[in-house]
Amino acid sequence: MDLLEVMRTTFACREFKNEKIEDEVIHRILDNARFAPSGGNRQGAHIIVVKDPEKKRKLGQLCESVLLLYAAQQKAGEVPYNTIKPSSISLQEIETKTGHDFEMFNKLDEVPLLLIVSVDLSEVASMDKDLNRIGIVTGASVYPLVWNILMAARNEGLGGVITTAVVPEEESVRELLDLPEDHAIAAMIPLGKPVQQLSRLNRRAVEEFTTVDSYKGDVFKI
Ligand SMILES: Cc1cc2nc3c(=O)[nH]c(=O)nc-3n(C[C@H](O)[C@H](O)[C@H](O)COP(=O)(O)O)c2cc1C
Repeated sequence: MDLLEVMRTTFACREFKNEKIEDEVIHRILDNARFAPSGGNRQGAHIIVVKDPEKKRKLGQLCESVLLLYAAQQKAGEVPYNTIKPSSISLQEIETKTGHDFEMFNKLDEVPLLLIVSVDLSEVASMDKDLNRIGIVTGASVYPLVWNILMAARNEGLGGVITTAVVPEEESVRELLDLPEDHAIAAMIPLGKPVQQLSRLNRRAVEEFTTVDSYKGDVFKI
């Protein structure tokens, strides 16, 4: 596929046809995705191809309370799991404030392919580690790989979605998948043949988020 078409049409796919993905295809996706950069080229990422339906089901289950809290915060007009604005949602409220679409996570054992991408924190230079804010640079040593996987999958006619709902339950995942102590989960990626391929993604225009010389500078436009 044309690179620009892949870049512009790799959407968040959460509904898959019931078609198996052969190991050769999985390998080809990862073989293309592995050229992603990482800080110092240290390549501390690890991928677990979760084939066991029982493990997939458990991973979906682990997301349940996280999704409930996320949905409740969203419903209350908050930015879910935000580090700047604290949440006002109590655990009691979560049980009543439901409504999120749990379809994919409830049937995670049925997704054709499930990948867990983690990164070895003992291999990453986290350049913002001493700043008085949440770290962002650490993720940059693994998310290029995560996104390359999605784009390589798109090139194979497949679709998927970056999910992070399992991350708050990282300790349970560590036990379930024997994840080493220093590994942090970056994403859980369900993949498969999309039921429907979207082609027009809802994104802000360049002019809406680009300025010249300063944040308050002129809008960058041609
Ligand atoms: C860091 C990150 C975390 C995400 N976590 C989840 C998640 O836990 N569950 C989910 O269904 N989608 C998740 N998504 C998918 C986003 O909702 C999706 O990429 C976004 O809404 C754009 O969708 P579109 O490409 O179909 O327009 C995540 C995406 C990113 C980049």
